[in-house]
Amino acid sequence: MVQPLIEENPLRVGLTQERTPEPLILVIFGASGDLTARKLVPAIYHLRQQRRLPPEITIVGVARRDWSHDYFREQMRQGVETYGQGIGAEAVWQDFAQGLYYCAADMDDPAGYTKLNKLLTELDEIRGTRGNRVFYLAVAPKFFAEAIRQLGQAGMIKSPEKTRVVIEKPFGRDLASCQELNKVVQQVCDERQVYRIDHYLGKETVQNLLVLRFANAIFEPLWNRQYVDHVQITVAESVGVEDRAGYYETAGALRDMLQNHLMQLFCLTAMEPPNQLEADALRNEKVKVIQATHLADTKNLQYSAVRAQYGPGWMKGKEVPGYRSEPGVDPNSTRETYVAMKFFVDNWRWQGVPFYLRTGKRMPKKVSEIAIEFRQVPYLLFKSAAGQVSPNILILRIQPNEGVALRFEAKMPGTELRSRSVEMDFAYGKTFGIGGSDAYDRLLLDCMLGDQTLFTRADEVEAAWQLVTPALNAWDMPTDPSSIPLYEAGTWGPKEAEELINRDGRQWRRL
Ligand code: BG6
Repeated sequence: MVQPLIEENPLRVGLTQERTPEPLILVIFGASGDLTARKLVPAIYHLRQQRRLPPEITIVGVARRDWSHDYFREQMRQGVETYGQGIGAEAVWQDFAQGLYYCAADMDDPAGYTKLNKLLTELDEIRGTRGNRVFYLAVAPKFFAEAIRQLGQAGMIKSPEKTRVVIEKPFGRDLASCQELNKVVQQVCDERQVYRIDHYLGKETVQNLLVLRFANAIFEPLWNRQYVDHVQITVAESVGVEDRAGYYETAGALRDMLQNHLMQLFCLTAMEPPNQLEADALRNEKVKVIQATHLADTKNLQYSAVRAQYGPGWMKGKEVPGYRSEPGVDPNSTRETYVAMKFFVDNWRWQGVPFYLRTGKRMPKKVSEIAIEFRQVPYLLFKSAAGQVSPNILILRIQPNEGVALRFEAKMPGTELRSRSVEMDFAYGKTFGIGGSDAYDRLLLDCMLGDQTLFTRADEVEAAWQLVTPALNAWDMPTDPSSIPLYEAGTWGPKEAEELINRDGRQWRRL
């Protein structure tokens, strides 16, 4: 039996049992792209180093470029060295690299799929992969439908036990295109073999939200409209658009971040407890809560949705250009790099409790958190140092400095009975002594094991598009560029976003 290279941490809480997948071939479409070298291959290699994957594991990279197997191996080695956790023992890399292959093929040419199929069948013999396949579509979204159609026509999609298909985000660009893509997918695949990936669900602290809520008795009784005043979900990034203008100009913050990543954080915060920790039970609850949710005011969109774009500014003492001056961006672009939204959930648990979501690029720092702010005490007996007691807040820090904090009032030392706000803090790194696993490690392993719990189902992704449709419709209309609110790079967003929450007598948290 293969022994683990490192001891399993007994404190590690996983959604699945620690199991090893069957030998298989991971076929990556878009093998010459960023995601493959930065995330996918480093994650697989890391899993292999930890002996979480069988030695037969094989990767076939597919892309247009005319690369050799050896050139692909070299590129992937560089990827692991630069973005992964390092090569480690040379013998482990050499053994892994033996299982890396490359197939030059055009995504829309049937001959490419015949060629690929032939290679995969040969590799089954050489590597002992038994016809098991995971097809990973790490290509531009416009190729998703075509690749799936072609895989179907080439007879390469077998049963869910033998074949799985992983589809990157964004899954569609609005409700109609998402439904269309789902239709193509469902003509070829069984939903049980479709893995729509959202890497936020692979983050350790996002899964910890489930443990916090459903493995502790003390939070759930307070998790409702009687005790919660409102919820704030923030995903702030300090980076700008970088070299992704081509994609970002067609997406923007709403499509790139809010409809998927923030929506997942929202779902796990607001959903009802599932009956069991099983893919469909969990996903049913997520769909139910999105379907009960709506923008606070769809008639006057500006009261529930704000978009903005970063202008020039300063980041860590360095002057940075505004979005419209970034390479590849239209100088008159109206594409949003910031979005803030206010939602209500129509159900018994959350009626009347606002959920404020915000995300943006070029904010002062990279920080993601969910803050549950509780109601004020009904009657105040004490004087507080700040004049008024602060409400209790439960803060789930998604990244960085992963952990959970609870803010509450405590008596200040001295003869007077005065209180001050203090924090009780649990920090992941300090408590467990190890960092969490990378989201892609976790999600790739789950997919290979056939566990769909942390992947999005067809109806869920459609419901999420439906929810943001009023904003998409309004914001996709031709707009005068001067009407888009700007915020200086390195600041927390536009004044319009402040007004969105200040109007309710509340404030964005200072992070
Ligand atoms: C990606 C978006 O899905 O998530 C990027 O396309 C964004 O624009 C990234 O930067 C953020 O992910 P993380 O894990 O760094 O928070």
